[in-house]
Amino acid sequence: MAVKIAFTNYKGGTTKTTSSTNLAGGLAKRFPDKKILLVEADGQGNTSSTFNVDTSEIENTMYDVFLRDTQPEDIITKVYEGHDSADIDILPANSDMDFVDFDFMTTNNKATLAVAFNAVKDHPKLLDLDVNEFIKEIDSWELEDKDYFNLLDGKFDTIDKMYDYIIFDTPPELKSITSSVIAIVDHVIIPYEPESYSVDGIVRLLQRINTIKEDYNPKLNIAGLLPVKFAARTKLHNQVLNQILQFAMNQKINHFNARIPASIKFATASATGLPATIVDKSDSNFTKEYYNLIDELIANKII
Ligand SMILES: Nc1ncnc2c1ncn2[C@@H]1O[C@H](COP(=O)(O)OP(=O)(O)OP(=O)(O)O)[C@@H](O)[C@H]1O
Ligand SMILES: [Mg+2]
Repeated sequence: MAVKIAFTNYKGGTTKTTSSTNLAGGLAKRFPDKKILLVEADGQGNTSSTFNVDTSEIENTMYDVFLRDTQPEDIITKVYEGHDSADIDILPANSDMDFVDFDFMTTNNKATLAVAFNAVKDHPKLLDLDVNEFIKEIDSWELEDKDYFNLLDGKFDTIDKMYDYIIFDTPPELKSITSSVIAIVDHVIIPYEPESYSVDGIVRLLQRINTIKEDYNPKLNIAGLLPVKFAARTKLHNQVLNQILQFAMNQKINHFNARIPASIKFATASATGLPATIVDKSDSNFTKEYYNLIDELIANKII
């Protein structure tokens, strides 16, 4: 079974995509014999574009896994062939993902209408009820409903056995897509920028993650908080980092020692078609923190 890790933060631009792709790249280099899969659960398609893959024309994507019967193993796309490192595969997404919520609601509404229609046909006496009694009656039938927050339920059972590490990049939201990912992974990493209001954001995010954990995934582990775009010489960053370290200690949540530095090099590397951890041969100052993160994941028995 694969170790499934999601990067999650509903705040935009907190390096969910950069951290997912760089962790995948770092794992590929560190463990050449392992099998690594990146799951793009975001319509922006940034995970794929980090590997120079244009997903706009791909017919079956994560959208179809979320809403249709498409199996994840049917949409595996090879994006990186390692020579002295492991290969990286992707489950791609494109802008279809932006319609997951809308399409889910519409299909669900139609399904409910169909149930009501058939109910009236089979039990004409239902027409004697007033509308509230009618709704109450139908509700009491406990119809089998797709769960909006658990759309991937059971869908990764086969692909789970095909990989060692599956890393999920999630969109900047906490609705059906992110919830459905959190509902099936083993570990969540929360990347955050040490800016004002970071604490409030993290508190709210943790509340939501814990609700999903209670409802769907009791074994879920919050692997830790990961400071990113960290400017060591900035007073505010150090102040907020200390605040969050204190908060993590009080809440008994792991806070990684790795600090991903602010650097344009991550964007530059992505623009060349590979994450920095792969492009950069020397494990330089800016990528080494992703390797430190990997060391911590090993030390904490996550991978
Ligand atoms: N360590 C870093 N230092 C500076 N800039 C970075 C760093 N990591 C990523 N970036 C840049 O910050 C921007 C946002 O990063 P990224 O797209 O990974 O965030 P995200 O959380 O996936 O965003 P979204 O919420 O939109 O999905 C990108 O332009 C990226 O190149
Ligand atoms: Mg992203």
